[in-house]
Amino acid sequence: MTLSIVILAAGQGKRMYSHLPKVLHPLAGKALLEHVVASAESLKPSQAPIIIYGHQGDRVRHHLAGLNVNWVHQEQQLGTGHALQQALPHLPSDHRVLVLYGDVPLISKATLKNLISSTPKEAIGLVTAHFNDPAGLGRIIRNTDNKIIDIIEHKDLQESQLNLSEINSGIYLFPANFLMSALSNLQNNNVQQEYYLTDVIKMAAQKNIMTHSVQPTAQEEVMGINDRAQLALLERVYQRQYAEKLMQQGVTLLDPQRFDVRGELTVGQDVIIDINVIIEGHVKIGNHCVIGPHTILRNVVLGDYVEVKANSIIDGAEISANCVIGPFARIRPGTILAPHAHIGNFVEIKNSRIDEGSKINHLSYIGDSDIGKRVNIGAGTITCNYDGINKNRTIIKDDAFIGSNTSLVAPITIGEMATIGAGSTLTREAPAHQLTLSRAGQRSIENWQRPKKEKG
Ligand code: UD1
Ligand code: CA
Repeated sequence: MTLSIVILAAGQGKRMYSHLPKVLHPLAGKALLEHVVASAESLKPSQAPIIIYGHQGDRVRHHLAGLNVNWVHQEQQLGTGHALQQALPHLPSDHRVLVLYGDVPLISKATLKNLISSTPKEAIGLVTAHFNDPAGLGRIIRNTDNKIIDIIEHKDLQESQLNLSEINSGIYLFPANFLMSALSNLQNNNVQQEYYLTDVIKMAAQKNIMTHSVQPTAQEEVMGINDRAQLALLERVYQRQYAEKLMQQGVTLLDPQRFDVRGELTVGQDVIIDINVIIEGHVKIGNHCVIGPHTILRNVVLGDYVEVKANSIIDGAEISANCVIGPFARIRPGTILAPHAHIGNFVEIKNSRIDEGSKINHLSYIGDSDIGKRVNIGAGTITCNYDGINKNRTIIKDDAFIGSNTSLVAPITIGEMATIGAGSTLTREAPAHQLTLSRAGQRSIENWQRPKKEKG
């Protein structure tokens, strides 16, 4: 049978106390809803997943623009059953419908595949789990034959049912034709006065339609996010799982608890990652790299044998093999470092190419520059790339030596093998092979008296 997928994401998420719709809150740097869409897509359904959206709908759609999904609007959020009803016109009656909740982000492909393959065609499939603390969740009601006959929301439970520990994950598989009849019969006579999707389970039982249950591989997969504490909990779960995966691949994490990936990381072999490293966007790390503590790598490619020392931030850059960066370096977008470049402490580099073996080791700003091979940039060198309106380039050719505390006012070119005297401010080209300096000559004044305090 052909599969359609519906993701319920119209709710506000009152318990988040947020201006941001709940499904847009980030988990590992990606909106909760994006995680669910990714799980849906992993099953390769016959049509793009349908997202039921409503609360702050424009914002939700805008955030996910570019994803291949079908948007269906739920004007008023009258409950999960009402939400799914909105999708009916888009569901062919001979399809099976997988329902996912936009606030249950870590459901795995394996569990969903198991649900789909093990549920008989005419039956309903349901992912359930036993929770030590089931508070707030819908509970599975079974009869004496252990058959599922109902789901009761926590708020509607009777005193004697409070200790039921089998919970509803909110992940179901329905024959579409069953939904067509069942959803129109929903009532909202419950504590929350909502049209509960969960009520269709009781209707199915009355019609002798079986509800088949499967369990997830890990409990965390079916944990929903209703408040910020649950968001933080699942963030840790996600990060721990990612760290495990990396360690399985041969990465040394000095403390897997203090490592965060907010995007995708590809790593070579024998990489050592120290504590409090944050990875954002798409990051690729080659073989034998060492990433020092408290560093941020965002959209970066690192070649082999790169060493990033403590407290460095590298963003939007390409770092070739054997480069050494930091401590306390800031590499900004558009930077390319050729092999064996060294960038030291308190150095900022933006939109520049630094060729092989060049060194910028202390306290410098290099912006919009092309720096050749084996160049040495002295401490405190500044490329003055901005005249208040335009950005201009600085070109420094191979083997140049820039003395400390030099300002290079761009556009400017420093020739090959040129030497610049310390403390110079250059506004014109410095010729190759010559010493260029622009500071005032040193002089001393004999018999000079320091000012004295007048006696009062
Ligand atoms: C729901 C289930 C509960 C289950 C729990 C699992 C119902 C009635 N209850 O409770 O049995 O244990 O999830 O996490 O289904 N939504 C809409 N439109 C609406 C209302 C909700 O799209 O009108 C969406 C929400 O955006 C959310 C999802 O449906 O993504 C679940 O809604 P929520 O209000 O969080 O339900 P729970 O109380 O958590
Ligand atoms: Ca929920």
